[in-house]
Amino acid sequence: MEPRIPPRHVACIMDGNGRWAQHRGLGRTHGHMAARAALEAVVDGALEERVEWLTLFAFSTENWSRPEEEVSFLVNFLAQHVIERGAQGMRERGVRLRLLGGEDPRIPAEVTGRLRKAEELTRDNSTLQLSLAFNYGGRQDLCETARSLAAQSVPAAEVTPETFVQHMQLPELPDVDLLLRTGGEHRLSNFLLWHCAYAELVFLDTLWPDFRTTHFRHALELYHQRQRRFGSLAPADAVDAAAHAAVAGHALPSGLSTLPGPSALRGLPAAIASRLGASLWGGVKETALFALEQLAAESGRPGCPDRPA
Ligand code: FPP
Repeated sequence: MEPRIPPRHVACIMDGNGRWAQHRGLGRTHGHMAARAALEAVVDGALEERVEWLTLFAFSTENWSRPEEEVSFLVNFLAQHVIERGAQGMRERGVRLRLLGGEDPRIPAEVTGRLRKAEELTRDNSTLQLSLAFNYGGRQDLCETARSLAAQSVPAAEVTPETFVQHMQLPELPDVDLLLRTGGEHRLSNFLLWHCAYAELVFLDTLWPDFRTTHFRHALELYHQRQRRFGSLAPADAVDAAAHAAVAGHALPSGLSTLPGPSALRGLPAAIASRLGASLWGGVKETALFALEQLAAESGRPGCPDRPA
């Protein structure tokens, strides 16, 4: 079996902490406390599966509207018990923490300080880039980018997807390949709107505190079953279209009344590769002989004697 290419960027909406706690007759903050193990599991899974970027939605610009007590607990718990305590482990495992999200006067200075310190501590790592979306909103991200373009007077004609990305908060953040949301809801909730343009979406009913590496592997399995086309054709259909184009205006080989479908090509790859090899070799030989002739002509010597008529 061919080795499977892991998704380069997995983004995760960690949903279901509150419901997990409610099902147990506990306050919502207990759900957030239980979420830590799931967070460790998703990082383990990403490292195991050689994912390059993992973005976790930890706190949205809209989450400020939750009860003050929950917000305060969440913000402090994340900074102190998840990030600060986890920073040394991240450093040892090659994880680099990157913060994604806007500044806000409601974020206590000591919270920002803890997050920035963890970013600094892990800055030389490169095995896994872990971006933490904290006080993040996809629309705000796009507006901030537009503001940056305007502030630098970028001419309208020069605003392309490529230049746009250069003005985003984290220009190196790649497009999301796999967006995973736990908790049973099927929505984006203002997460990475730009980067999810061609993401494969996987929604799991599992509540976030119950999430483990097995769930991560399962999500990847679903991802690998998807056929990504990016607006183009699937490879087999592209071969079919090329075959139709190649024979357009030519008679079909005898024995074929119509062009076979893409599935008929299965089993043929070895023959096709051998044919391709032979024609490439023919081309290389032809080019080498041509080069010899040119050299001979330039030096005034007679042409290559081996050259077939
Ligand atoms: C969006 O759902 C989900 C988020 C912004 C993630 C929030 C994540 C946590 C609270 C978990 C934090 C993790 C730890 C380890 C403490 P939403 O509920 O904001 O959006 P919705 O209203 O559209 O469902």
